[in-house]
Formats: sequence, structure tokens, C-alpha cells
Amino acid sequence: MWKAVVTAAVAFVLLFCRSSTLDNGLARTPPMGWLAWERFRCNVDCVDDPYNCISEELFMQMADRLAEDGWKELGYNYLNIDDCWMSMDRDEQGNLYANKTRFPNGIKKLADYVHSKGLKLGIYLDFGTHTCGGYPGSIKYLQKDAETIAGWGIDMLKMDGCYANVSDMSWGYPDMEMYMNKTGRPILFSCSWPAYAGGIKVDYSVLAKHCNAWRNYDDIQDSWDSVTHIIDWFGDNQDVLAPVAGPGHWNDPDMLIVGDYSLSYEESKAQMAMWAILAAPLFMSNDLRSISPEARSILMNKEVIRISQDSLGMQGRRVIKGDDKIEVWLREIEYASYGIAFLNRRTDGMPYNFTLTLQDLNFTYGKGYHLDDLFSGQPLGHFELNRNLTVSMAPNGVELIYAYPSE
Ligand code: GLA
Repeated sequence: MWKAVVTAAVAFVLLFCRSSTLDNGLARTPPMGWLAWERFRCNVDCVDDPYNCISEELFMQMADRLAEDGWKELGYNYLNIDDCWMSMDRDEQGNLYANKTRFPNGIKKLADYVHSKGLKLGIYLDFGTHTCGGYPGSIKYLQKDAETIAGWGIDMLKMDGCYANVSDMSWGYPDMEMYMNKTGRPILFSCSWPAYAGGIKVDYSVLAKHCNAWRNYDDIQDSWDSVTHIIDWFGDNQDVLAPVAGPGHWNDPDMLIVGDYSLSYEESKAQMAMWAILAAPLFMSNDLRSISPEARSILMNKEVIRISQDSLGMQGRRVIKGDDKIEVWLREIEYASYGIAFLNRRTDGMPYNFTLTLQDLNFTYGKGYHLDDLFSGQPLGHFELNRNLTVSMAPNGVELIYAYPSE
């Protein structure tokens, strides 16, 4: 019975919210895929480093991996090009085109290849005069560039904001959305506008009308410090950020760096868990050709992905930030259930035990909840509201729990 009531209530809320947000039907759950930037940067040296340079080869190889190694089936279906794909100039008609040495067959052919693998292709433009890497910007060519990428069969656009006035973004990003709409091709629109406008000093209701996702804050780098810096910012600003996330429009804390050089196994689980709790887009930026089995198992954890992709689309919040450096984050998910992340920010060298009751988290369902540990895959049992729950977290580690009401 409670399932029916909850589903009806949710349907009502979703219907009510629809009219004021971008309605291109895309990103009803946080988009997932692979994005080149964090791992492959602006490496254009295909002479000395052909295996790792930004080229059609690299994207075709990643497309093969996404399609053949089980990623696509789990939802990782966008393959996204970032900066440094273009030629340094536009052609005589003002059209953008890809660097001819590194993309000899052009982007349309690459899109055809990616589509033939059952994947979608994303691309990168910049709203300003130049991209962050110094390639041609779109400010005077919004309509032309929208038509160009639609003609190529592009499925997602990340529009960056280097070399632009923030004050111009309030017309520029909406214009780009309008021009993409006019092409008739549904293109998932990721806007970097808030990241350039100070993160919380933008009107997110306007963002949600024009963009499917938006980068709010600093670029992620390959370090645990960078991951926690971003998590802290999302926690500190959650009263602004959490209410604006929902089906079709998401805050984006930037890429997953699981599988790269710096994160330990525990830290990798922590990033994955936190991105799921935050309802974040899940774009891996790693080398899928050589990823370790450990990193793969974290990124492929179906239960964690299920939390990420929950249909209510509610962004989780930090509900406890203790002096003991333990944080508890909570995300409401469908069927009156929750994802709970216990995040250990301690570095004192041994696992730390933390005890609370579900009552402490303001859970109210009288019959109590069943809890499952999502990384070990183990059920933790039935918990009355006042039963003590003790979790053990490694340094920089996480415990991610799924809590659902007992029948
Ligand atoms: C900015 C963006 C990054 C990446 C680079 C490319 O820094 O925030 O995500 O796209 O530009 O130059």
C-alpha cells in the first residue's frame, strides 16, 4: 500500500515540476559515460604519444571498451570528447572542424562509429572567444555551431565558459539551448555557467530551464584532496544545490577519477558512493584499456549505480558532520528508502567504529528498516528505529548502506 501512495505522490511532484524545467526528455536520471578531460587532458602529441593523444583512435578505442566490456549495459553510454579536438581556425564559411591530423575522418564518421556500438557521442565547445585550451570559441557562432554538431549526430554538448563575460552567460547559454532545440536533434546540454559565476551566485531555476546538467565548481584533479574539497563544497552549499537537482537537471561535481593514479581502493569506493549520493552525473575519466579489476568492480557496482540512478532524482545531503571527522550523508530514494553514506575523514591509521540509531537520522517508519551494505553485498539485518547500528570505516573510507522499510 505504502508503495502505491509513494509512487502516486512522486508522479504528482514530477508532473508539477516538469513545466518549469528543460523539457528535451533527456537525463531523467544522472547521465553516465566517459569523458576524456581529467585523464587525457590536452595531449595533442600524436607523434611521440600516439596511444594517449586526443584523436579519433583514442575515442574509437574507448567506444570499443564501453561497448564490449559491460559498461554500456550498466548505463555508461555517453562517450564524450573534451577540449582540443578542433582545428585552430574555422573554415572559410566560419564552420568548426576537427584537427585533420588527429581526426582524419572527421567527427561525423566518429559519431557514426560510436552510434554503431550503441553509444552516444558528446562534444565540447566554449561559450567565449576561445576554449580553455585556446581553440575557437562559439560566442559569435552559436547557431552555426549548434547546427554543425547536430548535423554530425552529436548527442551531448558540454559548453565551457573560458574567455567569456559571466554577464553574457545569462543570454548565451539559453540562446545555445534554443538553437540546439531548433535543429530538432535532442542534445543533452551540460552548461559550465555556474562554475564561472561563483558557484552559488546564479539563479539555478534559470539553469534548470535551459540545461540538463551544470558544472558548479572547481575542476577535479587526480587527488583525494581534490575529491574531498569538492565534497565539502557540495555539503557546505547543499541548501542551495540540493533543491535544484532533479530528473532532467543535475548538479555536476565533475568526473569520476576511479581507476586513475592517485586514489586508494577505499578512496575510490568513497568517491563512487558520494557521487551516487549526490545524484551526480557519472562520467569516468580513466583509461578503460588498462583499468584494474578493483577499479572496475567499484565503477560497475550495480547496487551503487541503482542509488545513483534512482528515479526520484533527489540529491542527497550531509546530515551529520561530527567533531570526530565522521560524516553521514543521506539520499532519499524510491519506495520510502534511503542511501546512507558514512564517510570517514580520519587519517589515524585504523578503521573507525561509529554508532547511531535510525532515529538519530530522523527515520520514522515504525516497523523499522532492512539494511544492506552495498560494497560487501551483505545484508546487515533488520533495524528497529532505536537499535544501535555500528559501522566500521577505513581511513578515507566509506560505508554505503541501502535502507528500505520492513514489511
Ligand atoms: C575547463 C573545464 C574542464 C575542461 C577544461 C578543458 O577547465 O572546467 O572540465 O573541460 O576546461 O580545457
